[in-house]
Parts: sequence; structure tokens; C-alpha cells
Amino acid sequence: MCGIVGFISKNKDTNFLIEGLKKLEYRGYDSAGIAVVKDGEIAVQRCEGKIRNLEKKLDDFPMESTIGIGHTRWATHGKPSEENAHPHQSAGVVVVHNGIIENYLELKEMLKGEGHKFTSETDTEIIPHLIQSFMKKGDDFEAAVNSALKMIRGSYAIAVINKAEPGKLITARFSSPLVLGISSGEYFVASDIPAILSHTNEVVFLDDGEVATLTIDGVTVKSLDGVVKEKKSTIINWSPVMAEKAGYKHFMLKEIFEQPQAIIDTISGRISEDSGKVFLPDLNITTDDLKKVKKITIIACGTSWHAALVGKFLIEELLRIPVEVDLGSEYRYRDPIVGEDDLLLLISQSGETADTLAALKEGKDKGAKIVSICNVVGSSITRVSDGVIYTHAGPEIGVASTKAFTTQIIALYLFTLFTGERLELIALDDAKKMLLDLVLIPNQIKEILEQKDTIDKIAKKYSHASDFLYLGRGINYPIALEGALKLKEISYIHAEGYPAGEMKHGPIALIDEALPVVVIAVRDKTFEKMLGNIEEVKARGGQVIAITDAPADEIGAKADGVITIPTTSHLLMPVLATIPMQMIAYAIADFKGTDVDQPRNLAKSVTVE
Ligand code: F6R
Repeated sequence: MCGIVGFISKNKDTNFLIEGLKKLEYRGYDSAGIAVVKDGEIAVQRCEGKIRNLEKKLDDFPMESTIGIGHTRWATHGKPSEENAHPHQSAGVVVVHNGIIENYLELKEMLKGEGHKFTSETDTEIIPHLIQSFMKKGDDFEAAVNSALKMIRGSYAIAVINKAEPGKLITARFSSPLVLGISSGEYFVASDIPAILSHTNEVVFLDDGEVATLTIDGVTVKSLDGVVKEKKSTIINWSPVMAEKAGYKHFMLKEIFEQPQAIIDTISGRISEDSGKVFLPDLNITTDDLKKVKKITIIACGTSWHAALVGKFLIEELLRIPVEVDLGSEYRYRDPIVGEDDLLLLISQSGETADTLAALKEGKDKGAKIVSICNVVGSSITRVSDGVIYTHAGPEIGVASTKAFTTQIIALYLFTLFTGERLELIALDDAKKMLLDLVLIPNQIKEILEQKDTIDKIAKKYSHASDFLYLGRGINYPIALEGALKLKEISYIHAEGYPAGEMKHGPIALIDEALPVVVIAVRDKTFEKMLGNIEEVKARGGQVIAITDAPADEIGAKADGVITIPTTSHLLMPVLATIPMQMIAYAIADFKGTDVDQPRNLAKSVTVE
């Protein structure tokens, strides 16, 4: 995790560093720092805590410069503290780093032997010392960075400045994201696009093993061995305001309310209701490729894994192709049975999750066809996939994923219809009907969002509970898992999601009058069973919050709180059922006053194992 930024410009600036870091705070926020070259010297400011602490510090120590780097940290090696905050330096060489240096202890010992002194517990601090060590031995700045990187094992995205060459910023990546921003007379580097969007929307994505040198005359990208790389720039069509709160109290709330538009953007230009067709040009997969697929494995982490579980229901029901779902962190270490007849479908909002990326590589090495569903154009996962379905959800800043999740389900729905049509597994009239259901979803979500006051009231009534249980069945079971995860991560209340049919096999013992149970009871083939589960909870004194599309008189008397959602096809119900889950979690967390957008211990993009 961690976020890094850097810039070089004809004009003096410090705003970029602070503003850029604020945009990356979702990546980590336990300490922060910046370094610039000022009056020929390196000036560094660091502090524990959020970027606002650093900003306050800068009021007393202004750091205007034409070159600088910055960092917001999510601790891996060494506790959050000022000493461990980046940038780290050695005799005028200053570095910010995102990633983990696996062999840092070995390198630290070697450097200590050369007389280098260390002041932090971090793995990062070896990098400036290593560069410095190579410079002492005669390498110039660029060669020293390359030599240092060749000795490092692990993952890194770094930005380096050097007092001796104040007109040069060097940046490099391996297994950690990095993007360059190109503008006239100024160049930027950042871990993610929102940090640079207010300055430019022209970006270049660095690949693993590439090193870029930024000067005010331009950018040169080379391999670690010094071979010049021709890089193409990409224009990002996100506007800077898409990365702002736009009057909402939290990014998460804004992102919940953006879901109707995010879904419109994800389907627009990709479907024809008249012909019943789905167009996915970036999928890059032929009908022959699809015919060869004997098994689909969907791999993801966290919330994206919940979308993967929904995907299994969609694909198996409509295509009758067997689907396995796995967590990136499990798949990569279990020696999976995978080969050329397999299609691997990776789901990731950020496209940078280390475990998902590693699972992808494992499958790719064994010959599987790789398709990803991703929200970030040009991210690592998309670049190693054979094909991509982008969720056009726009930047998701709140650490708890919302609009990325619902658009991932929509992307899975599109993938299923696309494949069904190509393999002639879905009748044309059925496909048309399914697309009609799909286009109604954004307005149906709006209907749920309009019930915010009612949902807030129901949620707040239970905000003092210490545990929650979430129940769902079939295609809505993953939504119970997602509801529980949302509540846990932002309100810190313990919550469990369970398939309702399993209740009798254990969790029913938890039920007493203090336990709120959120039940997804929609009118599909499991409806009667879910009513039975509600009775079981009530009989044991539990408090039921029902999420249902049934008329109030069918369920109202049985539940303590009812949230009514519109009816759609059972295949799209998970999208609608998700919205109240997000709203309940948000209302409770906001009521409790937790840090909704940056919950404790979490970071948005998990780029380390
Ligand atoms: C939870 C959440 C995480 C992510 C997970 C995977 O709200 O956001 O569980 O879903 O870290 O991240 P991506 O989708 O970026 O691979």
C-alpha cells in the first residue's frame, strides 16, 4: 500500500505534493512526509498521522520548490512514527517507496559494514543508502539507482531526488503501481491517477522493471539495463471533480449515490436491447476461444470476491459451464489444476491487488486464457490480461468498496450474456428480456437511495449492537457476506454473513434479543425458506431487519424493520439487495463517528501480500 507522489516543474510548487497525497490517503494514512530541493539543500518534513498534520507543519515551514517527492504510509516494517515516515535519505539522496524490500535485512547489514548509519526500522531506508553507496563507488545518479534496484528483492514503486542533481527526479517500479503525468513544462509521478488529475489527464503507465527520469525537458523511460523504452501515453477521461466529495459528507456516501450513473456508464455503448447483443471489444476473445473453455475460475479478494461468488451463480445458471471461485491469496499457493482449457476471470477494482495479480500470473504461466474485470484503466492486472471488461465506475476513493462492487456484478452479467450469445446458449428473446431488466436497474437503485431517511432510522436503532448476523440464500448469499464485511470494516462492529440454510448447523445458537439479523428475503425460489428463517430468528427473540421486494403485509408483521426494494429478475437482485446493505453500514458508522472513508488498519489498494 502507501501512496507516493513526485513532480518537477518550471514553476515553484508545493501544493501538488500535499494535494496529491490527500488524493492518495486511501492507500495508507498512518504517517506522511515530503522532500524538496530548496536553496540547493534537501528539505524534509515528516509527521505521524494524517496528511492534515503534515499540512499544519508546513504552515510553519513552507517548502516551495520546482522539484519534490511525497509519501503517505501504511506501515509494514516499523510502527507508524515520524522516524519511520518517508522520505528516507542518505547524504542528499532522498527516497519515497511503496512496496516491501524482502532482502532488506541482508542489505542493511552489508551497508552497515560500509559505515552507513540507519535511523528508522523501515525496509525503505536501505534504498537511499544503497544508491549513495553506488554513487560513492563512481556511478552517476541514474546508474546508481539502477544498480541499487538490481540488488533489491521484493516490490517497489520509488521516487528519488538527489541534492547533487536537483533537476532530475528518478522513478521506477516493480510489482507496485506507478503512473507518470505529462503536462507542458511539468511532469508528475504518483501511485494512482487521482493524485495527478487536477494537473493533467495525459498519463504513461510504467511497467515492471522500468525506470523513468523526469526533467523539465521531458521524460525518458529505460529498462534497468539502460535500454530506452518507447512508451505511449493514455488520456484518462475522468474529470478532477470525480475525485472530489461534491458536497457529500464522505466519499463512501457519494460513491453509494453514484451507483445509478456508474451502472449507466458501465453498460452504455455495450448493449443493444433491440438485437439482444452485448459488445465487449476489449474482451479480446474469439468464439473459438470460448468454445474451448471447459471451466471458468473467478479469482478476487475481499469485496471483489463477493462479486465473484455472484458471478458463479450467473455463469453456471445461464451457461452451464462449471465455475470455481477462489481467493487470490489461496489460489496462488495451492498449486491449482489449471491449463489451456481454463478461463481465469480476475476481478479487481484497483487492478493492483498483489494476491490477485500473483494468481493471474500463476494461471497465465500454466496456459489459461486470462480476462479481468477492473475499474482502473492501465492498471497492472489489466496489462497482463488477455482481455478486459472495464467497470466504468469512476475513481473509488472510500476505502470500503461500493460502486465498484455493483458494477463488477454488472460486468459479470454482461460477460455472461456476451458468452451466452456467442455460444448460442441463451435464446435471443431471453437475452433481450435480460437486457431490458438491466437498463431498469439504475432507476431502481435510485428508488432505494430515496429511502435514506427510513434506512438511517432502522440502522441507527441497532447501532449499539455488538454483533450482527446477515443471512441470504443462493445468489444473494454473497450479498449477506458483503453486508457483513461493509459493517465490520467501517463501523468496527463484529458481523457475520451466513447462507441462511446453514443457520441450524451452528449460528442459530448466537441468536438472542440483542442480535440484529439482516435477512435478504426476495421473491425467488428461496423466498419461502427465507420466511422460515425469519420465523426461526423471531422465535428465539432476535431482531430481524428484512430486505425484501415482497409487499409489506407479507413480511411486515414478521420483521422489526423492513426495507423494501424494487423487483427485478432474480439474476439482478443481488445488485438491488446490496444498496441497503451499504446504506445500513454507512448509517451506523456515521452515527458512531468512525473514520468512514479511511477506517483503521485498512488501505484501499492492497499491493503487498
Ligand atoms: C472492502 C474492500 C476490499 C477490496 C479488496 C480487493 O470494502 O474494498 O475488500 O475489495 O481489497 O481490492 P481490489 O478489488 O482492488 O482488488
